[in-house]
Amino acid sequence: METTDYALGRTEEENERVRAQARLWSADTARLLDLVGLGTGDRCLDAGCGPGETMRLMAERVGPSGEVTGIDLDPGISSLAPGRVIIHDLTADDPVPGGPYDLVHARLLLFHTPRQAEVLRRLWDAVAPGGHLVVQDYDLSAVGVNPPLDIVDEMTAVLIEAFGAAGCDVRAGSRLPYLMAEAGIGAPDGTDVAGRLVPVAVGTPILESVYVSLLPVAYAKGLTTPADAEKAIDTLRRETAADPDRYVLLPLLNGVWKTKGESR
Ligand SMILES: C[S@@+](CC[C@H](N)C(=O)[O-])C[C@H]1O[C@@H](n2cnc3c(N)ncnc32)[C@H](O)[C@@H]1O
Repeated sequence: METTDYALGRTEEENERVRAQARLWSADTARLLDLVGLGTGDRCLDAGCGPGETMRLMAERVGPSGEVTGIDLDPGISSLAPGRVIIHDLTADDPVPGGPYDLVHARLLLFHTPRQAEVLRRLWDAVAPGGHLVVQDYDLSAVGVNPPLDIVDEMTAVLIEAFGAAGCDVRAGSRLPYLMAEAGIGAPDGTDVAGRLVPVAVGTPILESVYVSLLPVAYAKGLTTPADAEKAIDTLRRETAADPDRYVLLPLLNGVWKTKGESR
């Protein structure tokens, strides 16, 4: 597995992990798209679209008279995502291409980017008058299993350190309203917190898949070794199977939204 600009790597396994993660949160993203009134004929953007699962939710709502665009840094995304994908670095000091849009959405993007307020400001600038900005991101601070398991705490600590070492913001989701103020956008019109408390049999494979995607960073930063990682995964699987009554709190997915100025 090669280490890349994206902390979680660019592999087919990582694309599949992102798709599974998207399925987990699709109802919460759909709820916010509906709340701001995304509808027939709208032009919308998913910024940092990945394999394009949110683009599918958008397409269902805007219909054939609407337009769905995805933007991503990764050229490999074009063949995976449905609809038009523009390969572009959203941290670049350029306007967001293809706008203005009736809706700009970004999920799990600011978690990964430096200069978050600047990126957010550019996303806002791409929103048409009367259009909407919807941003969702993780806060990892509450992640854990209950009753606690040392192995989950250990693996979560490696994961959080590895994200930090790769320049990610593991509390981006709770920072969103502050980032909006910093970006000069002003307070959100509304905020949302989505969470999942799931049995260990569901939760620890998710933890394991993120851990595996982060291993190249963790090795490079000396946070674990291949032998220790293998042992940790083995212990996690064994202890999970031994007590299936435990539950895992997954990362919280926090959301903000805001409508721009005059109505359309
Ligand atoms: C964790 S994935 C989330 C994908 C999708 N938004 C979702 O929620 O399913 C983050 C995506 O953001 C993209 N990304 C990260 N930094 C970016 C940047 N500076 N410009 C554009 N895309 C970026 C990555 O390539 C990756 O596809």
